[in-house]
Amino acid sequence: MVLNYSVIQQDKSCGARLGLLHTTHGTVETPIFMPVGTQAAVKTMTPEEVKEVGGRLILGNTYHLYLRPGQELIREAGGLHRFMNWDGPILTDSGGFQVFSLGPLRKISEEGVTFRSHIDGSEHFFSPEKAVEVQEALGSDIAMVFDECAPYPCTHEYALEALKRTTRWARRCADAHRREDQALFGIVQGGVFADLRRQSALDLVGLDLPGYAIGGLSVGEPKAVMYEMLDVTVGFLPPEKPRYLMGVGSPDCLVEGVVRGIDMFDCVLPTRIARNGTVLTHHGKLVVRNAEYARDFDPLDPTCDCYACRNYSRAYIRHLIKAGEVLGIRLTTIHNLRFIQRLMQEIRDAIRQGNILEYRDNFLKNYLQA
Ligand code: GUN
Ligand code: ZN
Repeated sequence: MVLNYSVIQQDKSCGARLGLLHTTHGTVETPIFMPVGTQAAVKTMTPEEVKEVGGRLILGNTYHLYLRPGQELIREAGGLHRFMNWDGPILTDSGGFQVFSLGPLRKISEEGVTFRSHIDGSEHFFSPEKAVEVQEALGSDIAMVFDECAPYPCTHEYALEALKRTTRWARRCADAHRREDQALFGIVQGGVFADLRRQSALDLVGLDLPGYAIGGLSVGEPKAVMYEMLDVTVGFLPPEKPRYLMGVGSPDCLVEGVVRGIDMFDCVLPTRIARNGTVLTHHGKLVVRNAEYARDFDPLDPTCDCYACRNYSRAYIRHLIKAGEVLGIRLTTIHNLRFIQRLMQEIRDAIRQGNILEYRDNFLKNYLQA
């Protein structure tokens, strides 16, 4: 079995569960947050540093790696793990989301999507078979089906067509998929419509894939709507398989997602906001770039054990960022990823101790009070 997931504890009063996900490159504990390494690097970080902050499973993007440096070069390097010197598990997104985000640069047909490269404007064609071929060349542990993520807002009719196409494409991906050491996950779509989420989940579960993602969320809809879609969708997913909420990673959404039965998350948020001088704390975001921290010689977060907080002050990190020194954004990135990994550890501990709902209420009270 290429991917083996086992629930080791299910909470009695909500959907939260602890699990172990066994992949070709090792076993990870869930719920898990996957740092994003779009172009075969978690921006500003070495793999050793990603490990040091607690990262265990990272995400790469098929769209970006296909355009540059190309999957054949990565295959020649011995696969993505060898190429970037990351020996832990890797999940690759299929390119569906990125290609659909290109707006006027793309054209959709039943066969696939024609798009122009954001790098040099050259024309390319992606199909379900192509997305599988590229991900097999990259050699990720978990590959994703090629899906169509409907925009928000969109009509029920549009969301229905997108989800039906996503199911047809998922079947084509499953038919094309060959690698025995790689698991292929389905992606539930359906916009913000409960009946469509149900239909999408049931259709995909029929394909008997080793895991299921929930896509098309965190695209501009209110959080309450996203939580409602999670409740609806998770209810139709098999409890014995891992569930992955794509593109979600604000601390409050991670906690709320876990409570609703999500096992895996990825998001650029912690690394992206780090690069514009914002750091995460248990009391909300702190914009260390702001003038009020010019003479603040405390660490970013006095309760944090990361390399940045153990060694440097807010005043120094603010100075580095203002001066354009790359060390500044390296330090904020290290801190934010460590914050998220500690949050996931706290979440797993709370599930283990049977008090995840209490943990959630307490965490949100502090985090959202600001
Ligand atoms: N990342 C965030 N949302 C999505 C989605 O709906 N589909 C894919 N493939 N990736 C995503
Ligand atoms: Zn820190």
